[in-house]
Amino acid sequence: MAGTPDRLDDAEAAAELARLAEEIAHHNRLYHAEDAPEISDADYDALVRRNAELEAAFPHLVREDSPSRQVGAVPAGPLAKVRHAAPMLSLDNAFAEEDVADFIGRVRRYLNLAPDEPITVTAEPKIDGLSCSLRYEKGMLVLAATRGDGTTGEDVTPNVRTIADIPTNLRSSRAKSRGAGTDSEKRPSTTFGTNGDVPDVFEVRGEVYMSKADFAALNVRQEAAGGKIFANPRNAAAGSLRQKDASVTAARPLRFLAHGWGEASSLPADTQCNMMRVISGWGLPVSEDFLPFDNLEAALAHYRAIEAKRADLPFDIDGVVYKVDRLDWQRRLGQVARAPRWAIAHKFPAEKAQTTLKAIDIQVGRTGKLTPVARLEPVNVGGVTVTNATLHNADEIERLGVRPGDRIVIQRAGDVIPQVLENLTRDEKRPAYVFPTECPECDSDAVREEGEVDIRCTGGLICPAQRVERLRHFVSRHALDIEGLGIVHIESFFRDGLLQSPADIFKLTKDQLLNRERWAEISAANLIAAVDARRRPTLDRFLFALGIRHVGEVTARDLARRYRSFENFMAMIERALAIRAETQSTPAEPDRKFAQRRDKAVVAVVDTPNIGPEVANALLDFFDEPHNREVVDDILAAGVEPRDVVHETRASSVSGKTLVFTGSLETLSRDEAKAQAESLGAKVSGSVSAKTDLVIAGPGAGSKLKKAQELGIEVIDEAKWAEIFASSSP
Ligand code: IVH
Repeated sequence: MAGTPDRLDDAEAAAELARLAEEIAHHNRLYHAEDAPEISDADYDALVRRNAELEAAFPHLVREDSPSRQVGAVPAGPLAKVRHAAPMLSLDNAFAEEDVADFIGRVRRYLNLAPDEPITVTAEPKIDGLSCSLRYEKGMLVLAATRGDGTTGEDVTPNVRTIADIPTNLRSSRAKSRGAGTDSEKRPSTTFGTNGDVPDVFEVRGEVYMSKADFAALNVRQEAAGGKIFANPRNAAAGSLRQKDASVTAARPLRFLAHGWGEASSLPADTQCNMMRVISGWGLPVSEDFLPFDNLEAALAHYRAIEAKRADLPFDIDGVVYKVDRLDWQRRLGQVARAPRWAIAHKFPAEKAQTTLKAIDIQVGRTGKLTPVARLEPVNVGGVTVTNATLHNADEIERLGVRPGDRIVIQRAGDVIPQVLENLTRDEKRPAYVFPTECPECDSDAVREEGEVDIRCTGGLICPAQRVERLRHFVSRHALDIEGLGIVHIESFFRDGLLQSPADIFKLTKDQLLNRERWAEISAANLIAAVDARRRPTLDRFLFALGIRHVGEVTARDLARRYRSFENFMAMIERALAIRAETQSTPAEPDRKFAQRRDKAVVAVVDTPNIGPEVANALLDFFDEPHNREVVDDILAAGVEPRDVVHETRASSVSGKTLVFTGSLETLSRDEAKAQAESLGAKVSGSVSAKTDLVIAGPGAGSKLKKAQELGIEVIDEAKWAEIFASSSP
């Protein structure tokens, strides 16, 4: 760092302030937006202190963009972002009782439990609210955050402090508890296993919601005051909590129910049930319908009982959540993608209503698919006003025989787009609806590919709708997540030629924005900062953002994990394209056989878990198309650098090794063994070869064990594996 401020002249100080502004902005971006800090907190603090020191000595040189004037690199949306100490997960859904039985079966298999070993599960209502994490340090509320994308949420601390249900201080003894703690008759009387003291750090997780009555009264008040009318209690709760001005939240009747926890410096109990009792004892509300059951039938009976009183409950619920009670089992079960293996939401059946179909509109998607949308006479379905429903495709319109003017039955299930179930006036004599044969956006032919149900616009990238949808997908939350670039801006930038393809996003300048109506210094700077923050996306987000057919988030993640860098990934694509082109049919070989042989070769090159011929070919089709290559090359040329994947694994003697499990394992299921090995950075293979580093053999191991011995590969038993795993655990 340069000398003390009094030894510097103006020019030197100005130059250093400019450098500090740039450097601190860079580190802010890495820290807040990309979660990839390059320097320690202490070094960062030193930069900020140096900046402050210089500014104090040279007040006339304080820059417009000085770090002392900024709050951080996250675009200043209405609320600040916070990264969750432990991710906020979502839940898998069960719709039928068999799905719940399957869930229990999966748990039993994963934990390798005997068929007669009881699995206690808790069951409680699934509140239709907004999940919130409340962080208590030494029993004091220090931070409250919304779920956001599960990794990063919004800071709503001042707002949450206005909610009467939420204590700002946890009661630190076993004081009288509410909810789950009071109902001793219904529950086995287990002891707490704790003295009731509050851990140093404890995040309570639960649902912020609004009662049906409060929601109705709020809308009456809003209407009288000419304010926003909310569609349902959940929207009202979300809108009330996510306020910049906490006094608005204070005037809204929000409630809270706890259903779990996030980061905790220690856990005061070892079952879900006792944890919730402790949480209730600390003064947080827990559902009165939260109960443990040691068999499936009893849990399902509770579901039916809750469903029967659903309409009479003071708040909206959309199902029942079951959780494995034992926390040691929860830990072993872990999670898949964004949902835990130890919990499931059993949803209530969809609610139905009748209304009139006013019109059928055709929407054109990212891949050119034409989707008919039913425009409806607004109707209330289970507390939500519905104005649109999907009709899926031309076949569905024909099946229902719907035409504008028909009376129809629709149903709504959770957050999914409502569906049209039935046409009540099918027999009325009116002409049938004719599905367009041209794209309504670009007039290109709309055709049905052989064997497909969908009708697609053939316009490709000349179709404005497809291009706009591609852009929209590119910036969407699970793709590049560019905040502040919503569909309204995309459409208007597209119309004016500012945005044509994803690369243009990275070429936007502040001046271009300032030349537009309704853009001011701050909003323009925020958008540019939001774009800048995404110049180094993670590889999985980047692959997902490209919008390749069949490549959803999970597949993108599988590919990113497998190839780790975009260069490696593209090298694989080139190899696979070459193989696909080289594989020729032999005379006499039936087409189907040839296609199978070629698919097999392609899948072998793509060589990624869960990727079969359909996805593999979709990947190759995408990169075989010069248009798409151009789009990708342009994005890279605009300075976007997908980040390499660095495995979040624990250091272990097996990191980077290839392992094979064989024979029967006694304490672990194969899935759990595989998950353990992968968490240590090892690769698990199904067969023994010269590439195998270690074989874990249980009783009954046969040919694989023999082969390992022949090849001189190290063989250990399950107990030894358990030691390796335990010794590598944090
Ligand atoms: S458990 C890892 N319990 O539903 C466990 N969630 O669809 C995740 N929700 O994000 C949460 N009531 O916000 C749990 N009794 C309940 C719930 C509940 C509502 C919400 C929660 C979650 C979403 C998942």
